[in-house]
Amino acid sequence: MTTIPSLGYSIEIGDLHQGSLSKLLSEEFSTRKKVIICDENTHEHCVSYLTTSIDSLANAEIIVLPAGEENKILEICMQVWEALSEYKIQRNDVIVNVGGGMITDLGGFVASIYKRGIDYINIPTSLLSMVDASAGGKTGVDLGAYKNQLGLFSTPRLVVCDRIFLGTLPEEELLWGKAEMLKHGLIQSKEHWSTLKTKSASEITIDDISASVAIKNEIVKADFKEEHIRKGLNFGHTIGHALEGFFLDNDTKAHGHCVAWGMVAESLLAAKFGTLPMEEFNEIFAHIHSDYPPIKVERSNLPQLIELMRNDKKNNATGINFTTISAIGVSHIDQSYSEEQIHEVLQELFIAH
Ligand SMILES: NC(=O)c1ccc[n+]([C@@H]2O[C@H](COP(=O)([O-])OP(=O)(O)OC[C@H]3O[C@@H](n4cnc5c(N)ncnc54)[C@H](O)[C@@H]3O)[C@@H](O)[C@H]2O)c1
Repeated sequence: MTTIPSLGYSIEIGDLHQGSLSKLLSEEFSTRKKVIICDENTHEHCVSYLTTSIDSLANAEIIVLPAGEENKILEICMQVWEALSEYKIQRNDVIVNVGGGMITDLGGFVASIYKRGIDYINIPTSLLSMVDASAGGKTGVDLGAYKNQLGLFSTPRLVVCDRIFLGTLPEEELLWGKAEMLKHGLIQSKEHWSTLKTKSASEITIDDISASVAIKNEIVKADFKEEHIRKGLNFGHTIGHALEGFFLDNDTKAHGHCVAWGMVAESLLAAKFGTLPMEEFNEIFAHIHSDYPPIKVERSNLPQLIELMRNDKKNNATGINFTTISAIGVSHIDQSYSEEQIHEVLQELFIAH
């Protein structure tokens, strides 16, 4: 078991029976009600493993949500809050989120608002939520096509990443999770990028997961509220979120899939209009192109994509905000490009010919 200390909580990576979960639930939380929030897939594949092997979860209330990003919305939160109220969940009870990033984002938000905030534990079950979404304290939901517009910073009591759950995760979901790991390499560690580049998503090891978690955790610890260096973690997300929001109502595309191509597009911006050497862009393009299905839009959709970027919550008054890279492993926050430059890159990468 690897334990990575974060801001007042730990991220444990390994067999969940070897860590502090059982102890926390049966000692500090022994008299408290437990509520598991999951989606229909993690209910089917993950929850019974927990309720049958951890005594203190045997009688937990279970709230099962419909799966999918389109359900990471306030209307679903309302239903959860009503259920918590019906179960008479009190301020000192605890929520256990069991799922991918949709569940850890929404469940963390629900817990942090209910009765002005109750404790929650994240048990991520997708690769993406293990390496990124479950730790760091960003919770929230989408508002229409705008990603994560409603939310707050609030930390879990514990995060436990047990690889056993990846056994039932669809293969493409592993690929989407690997995108966030590649991001950690691209912004901070050429070594991590080079290791991941040689592996398929199914070959990712627990050490690779720990390396990604450690990179993100160091950044979050230095800048919890994203006032400076945490913005680096947004690499690929300005364009990635616009793509994800664009496809949300129709032909939904996974977050990690959009981030992978968002990183390609933002690397191309950096290569054409910044200082990223073109051969490094080519290396990034070649790896992502070989693994991730292309994303295509109509030329007439480009203004809508740019409009989505303009309304991204990462912006300030001066324009569309990017994290960019000048080399693999070296990132720079608060960079902006003109709409013409963005348009040029989108056209080069995303137009269906
Ligand atoms: N808070 C943050 O810092 C942060 C960071 C990155 C991403 N995110 C958010 O995370 C979300 C994406 O996360 P995701 O890719 O995990 O999406 P997700 O939660 O929708 O999970 C993807 C799919 O995998 C299924 N699934 C999850 N675990 C499974 C398992 N063990 N077995 C079988 N099926 C399983 C889910 O039911 C879902 O169908 C987005 O909403 C994104 O905005 C948040």
